[in-house]
Amino acid sequence: MKRVMLTGDRPTGRLHLGHYVGSLKRRVELQNSASFDEMYVMIADSQALTDNASNPEKVRQNIIEVALDYLACGLDPKRVTIFIQSQIPELTELTFYYMNLVTLSRLERNPTVKNEIKLRNFETSIPVGFLTYPISQAADITAFKANVIPVGDDQLPMIEQAREIVRSFNHTYEEVLVEPEALLPENEICSRLPGLDGKAKMSKSLGNCIYLSDTEKEIEKKVMGMFTDPNHLRVEDPGVVEGNPVFIYLEAFALPKHFETYLPEYKNVEELKVHYRRGGLGDVKIKRFLNQVLQEELKPIREAREKLSQNIEDVYKILEEGSIRAREVAKSTMNEVKRAMKINYFEDATFLKEQEDQYGESK
Ligand code: TRP
Repeated sequence: MKRVMLTGDRPTGRLHLGHYVGSLKRRVELQNSASFDEMYVMIADSQALTDNASNPEKVRQNIIEVALDYLACGLDPKRVTIFIQSQIPELTELTFYYMNLVTLSRLERNPTVKNEIKLRNFETSIPVGFLTYPISQAADITAFKANVIPVGDDQLPMIEQAREIVRSFNHTYEEVLVEPEALLPENEICSRLPGLDGKAKMSKSLGNCIYLSDTEKEIEKKVMGMFTDPNHLRVEDPGVVEGNPVFIYLEAFALPKHFETYLPEYKNVEELKVHYRRGGLGDVKIKRFLNQVLQEELKPIREAREKLSQNIEDVYKILEEGSIRAREVAKSTMNEVKRAMKINYFEDATFLKEQEDQYGESK
């Protein structure tokens, strides 16, 4: 069976370090491993509109931002089809037919959507489009017959919903669709990087992010202002590393080469932790080190982003060409779906014949 990867992001802001460790880095590794026959990365603007209906400008402004982030991290448009969801009308068309295969109560049970409804204060009036976005996400996945979906664990209910739709479709009509599987991040840090303030998640709305496009100065300022152990007041005091975002980031990013270059007194994060717990290791020292590590990791990305941004037309063309290519694939699946559902009247020679015969008999 062909190996097809698909994933995507809502364009509601520039991408940050949480996106980077959680998914972008992995995508680039998957791309470079050459283990897929086809790879798709989608800018999910239609999905972004399901909870930003009155703010299309925000979505529009972030299309190029997200594309710049993708390309700066190393996604190669020759190997990965990068496209814009709304430009593939077949995705909307598929969504409409899949709606017949899903019940309202099934949608209402989706834990991620439930949580998002609460966060957005949608409890008393939920836009239908928002409640049904998991169906549209099933369309995104199945239109490309994608079987590997790299996502965070919050997306597992979407993949499960897509699998149910695939089984129901194939059972009700014909074996056309392919069941997808989630590919989860390799470790816990990668699945959820905490915010600079120590809150569970780095998120734009919480204002606790380091963006891939941040300048050197911005990164330094943010790192030096990070939350640590609030009871670690004097250097001599013993400190707590659990839940301390500085240590969590170091675990996610610091490599032996960073220790060698910037902090040769220690070999690894474990040794730093031991010292911090014992007391005598100051926050400023570890923050300085973290800053050096992050600067090293983010500098090439920022520079690539700056270079790309000098030629926005190229980025625009990559998206346009990717969307054209993606549409061809989605169209072909759409044709199969219509055939299976017997709604391909004008390509179905038997349709006319049958109808004629029926009327012929009654004549
Ligand atoms: N829901 C995903 C997110 O918020 C974005 C997305 C839309 C997606 N369609 C998808 C992810 C299809 C994987 C596959 O991050």
